[in-house]
Amino acid sequence: MQTAKRVNILKPEGAYNVLAKCEDLERQGKNIVHFEIGQPDFPTPSNISKAGINAIKKGFTKYTAPLGIMPLRKKIAEEINKTRNLNVSEKQIAITPSGKTAIFIAMSVLLNQSDEVIYPSPSFPAYEAVIDFTGAVRKPIPLLEENNFSFDMKALRKNFSKKTKLIVLNSPSNPTGGVIPMKDLLEIADLVKGTDCWIMTDEIYATIIYDNFIYPSFYGIKSIQNRTLLVDAFSKTYSMTGWRIGYISAPESIIDRIDCLLTHTIACTATFTQYAALEALSGPQKKVEAMVKEFEERRNFIVKKINEIDGITCQNPQGAFYIFPNIKSFRKTSKWMAEYILKDAGVALLDGTAFGEYGEGYLRISYATSIEMLDKGIKRIKKSLSKL
Ligand SMILES: Cc1ncc(COP(=O)(O)O)c(C=O)c1O
Repeated sequence: MQTAKRVNILKPEGAYNVLAKCEDLERQGKNIVHFEIGQPDFPTPSNISKAGINAIKKGFTKYTAPLGIMPLRKKIAEEINKTRNLNVSEKQIAITPSGKTAIFIAMSVLLNQSDEVIYPSPSFPAYEAVIDFTGAVRKPIPLLEENNFSFDMKALRKNFSKKTKLIVLNSPSNPTGGVIPMKDLLEIADLVKGTDCWIMTDEIYATIIYDNFIYPSFYGIKSIQNRTLLVDAFSKTYSMTGWRIGYISAPESIIDRIDCLLTHTIACTATFTQYAALEALSGPQKKVEAMVKEFEERRNFIVKKINEIDGITCQNPQGAFYIFPNIKSFRKTSKWMAEYILKDAGVALLDGTAFGEYGEGYLRISYATSIEMLDKGIKRIKKSLSKL
């Protein structure tokens, strides 16, 4: 049976390919250091897990409204208002079973076939996948290393036209860890003002920020709130990747369309997971602060160590838990380099092009692992690269 074009066009995600290769090698007895996984290595804080378990014990195991339980929608609106000095209402919040679903729903609600979408390259692979799925047209804009991996603003302005239906932003970024500065965000807001273009800002790493830096949030720009959707999730901040919960904050004018699409797809997000997320936001935040501090120490460590390897240069990213080292001096493709490092050094990482065409010349390393593992992996990479 022939499957639909909209699914035939989809490609597997790079990280899953590498995981499968690692499993093969590990089965053969090879020791692998894992730098490919984009999830915190800390357990979910116990107060959150307990809230989930208690919710199950209390019988919160039935459907909820598609947009989610009201106490959680309220708490999320409060949190957005507190962190971005806004006045968002709980009616604007839609709970989703993950950040990925939030992206899928937000983009599906906005995009028609042939609409153009401007998005960063390299970037989280789900954006390209959903653009393709909806039949919209990709307009990847390079992120420039010399701009701390913010956009090539000239290319962005050049590609922006009446056909641009959506601009996708992600800061801090997966895969670069780069943060888009406020001046670029304001320029994008200015470009869009008075047009029919929407913005989807994926701020899933907003709390994972270093050097006491004040996070510049696009969602915090009030002037184009009526055309902006925020997507966020609990996965990274609260180490809840397996709980599957995220949300969209959208203008009230389109919430009923989001409600309808949620109704006919997921019906609702797991009820006890919603109670766990409510505890995540309401309970103590000390564990989150400790986790961010630990990530900062790891970033300092890995950036220093990787820059000591001949042929590699690496920026000092301001957020998320990834580095995106430049390996152009080896004159090999990123894919070749990632495969060589996996085979020769036994270190799993991702090639830059797993995140789009402009990722060529780079590798992505996730430092969501211990300093000991980082040290071990970097030593192995150094040894392997010295043979090239
Ligand atoms: C930029 C970005 N957005 C969204 C997600 C999706 O997160 P979730 O696990 O909540 O689906 C990820 C996960 O890696 C991500 O890196």
